Amino acid sequence: MYADRIKSLPPYLFAEIDGIKKRARDSGVDVIDLSVGDPDIPTPEHIVKEMCEAVKRPANHQYPSYEGKIEFREAVAEWYRDLFGVDLDPSTEILTLIGSKEGLAHAPLAFVNPGEIVLVPDPAYTVYSTAVMFAGGIPERMPLLKKNSFLPDLGSIRARLEQDPDWRPRLIFLNYPNNPTGAVAGIDFFRELVDLAREYGILVMHDNPYSEIYFDGRPPSILQVPGARDVAVEFHSLSKTYNMTGWRIGMVSGSSRIIEGIGKVKSNIDSGNFGAVQDAGIAALRSPPEVVDGLRAVYRERIEILHSALCDIGLELSKPKATFYLWAWTGGDSREYAKMLLEKTGIVVTPGVGFGEHGEGYIRLSVTQPTERIEMAAERLRNL
Ligand SMILES: Cc1ncc(COP(=O)(O)O)c(C=O)c1O
Repeated sequence: MYADRIKSLPPYLFAEIDGIKKRARDSGVDVIDLSVGDPDIPTPEHIVKEMCEAVKRPANHQYPSYEGKIEFREAVAEWYRDLFGVDLDPSTEILTLIGSKEGLAHAPLAFVNPGEIVLVPDPAYTVYSTAVMFAGGIPERMPLLKKNSFLPDLGSIRARLEQDPDWRPRLIFLNYPNNPTGAVAGIDFFRELVDLAREYGILVMHDNPYSEIYFDGRPPSILQVPGARDVAVEFHSLSKTYNMTGWRIGMVSGSSRIIEGIGKVKSNIDSGNFGAVQDAGIAALRSPPEVVDGLRAVYRERIEILHSALCDIGLELSKPKATFYLWAWTGGDSREYAKMLLEKTGIVVTPGVGFGEHGEGYIRLSVTQPTERIEMAAERLRNL
C-alpha cells in the first residue's frame, strides 16, 4: 500500500517512544518523561496576550502570504542584528517557516536531485536524513565523535573532495548548539566550513534552534562569517527560545538564492503561517532579554541536578555548553539501557542510537520537565 520512500523509513523515533510511554502509564507507572525536548514552561504572557488580540483582526483570517509578513521578517532582521550583529534584508534574505522542521524537511526538494549525496551529522535530529531520502538523495553520515568535540571532521571531508572528483555532496546539514550532544561550534569551525563550501559549491543548511539556550556565552551564527551568505542559510525557531513549540513558527535566513529555492517548494505545498501566530512571533522576538535569561537560569539549575545524579550512578558525561540536553555515555546498548531505566525508575530517556549509529552507547535526557520532577528523577536514579 505504501510508497517505497515510506517503507524504507525507520520508525519516527518519538512516535516509537510515545508508544513505550503510553504502555508504562497504562500499567500505572508514574512516568518522568525526559525523552522529548519540549519546554514545560508556558509561552510568556505578553506573547499570549498579543495572540489574543491578533486573532481578532480580520486581516489575519485570510490566506497569509507565502513568504510571511514583512513585519515578522523585519522583526527577525532586528533580532539577528541585536544578537549576532548580522544585517539581513528582510525581503530577500528571510523566509517565515511553519517551525524549523518544516523548512528543513522541504529544503532538499529544492536542491537535491535523485542520487545526489547530502552530508548529514550522525547522531542528529532525524529529519535531515529523512528529508534527503524524500527528495531521492543519499544521506551520507558525518560521525560526530567525542574526540572531535562532536564536530564533523572537516579535514577528512576536504581530503576526500580533493582526492575524488566524482564525490560532490550537494548539501551539508549541521546543527550547533547540537541536539543531541549539547556541543557548540566556534566561529573558526564555521569559517573553515564556509571556505570549503564555497570552494566546492556545497550548500550549507545550518540548523540553529538552540542558539539562545546557552550557559557559556552565546554561540555564534554561521551568518557571522564573511561570505557565508553566498552558500549558507540558517534555520531558527521560536519553539525553544520562547517556549512556543506548539505555535509552529520559525524562519530561515541567509543566502537569497537558497531562500528563493525553499520558497518555491513551499509556495507549492503550504500557504504560509497563520497571521496571528506571526504577530505573536513579532512580540516574542521583541521580548525583553530577561525573558530568555530566566529560562537559561531554570535550565542551568535542572542540568546541575541531573548531571550530578548521572555522574553518581557512574555514567560518563559533561555538562552541555548549550541546549537543554544531557548526553550520557552508558557504555552499552542504548535501547537496553533506556528500557532498564524505564522499568526500574519510570524515567523515559531517548536511546542514542535513535539519532544514528554513532549515538549508540549514549542516552539523551531533556530537562524540559518541572524542576521538582527533575529532582525526583535524580532521586530515583540514585536509588537505582
Ligand atoms: C535540532 C532541531 N532542529 C529542529 C527542530 C524542530 O523545531 P521546530 O520545528 O519546533 O522549530 C528540533 C526540535 O526538537 C531540533 O531539535
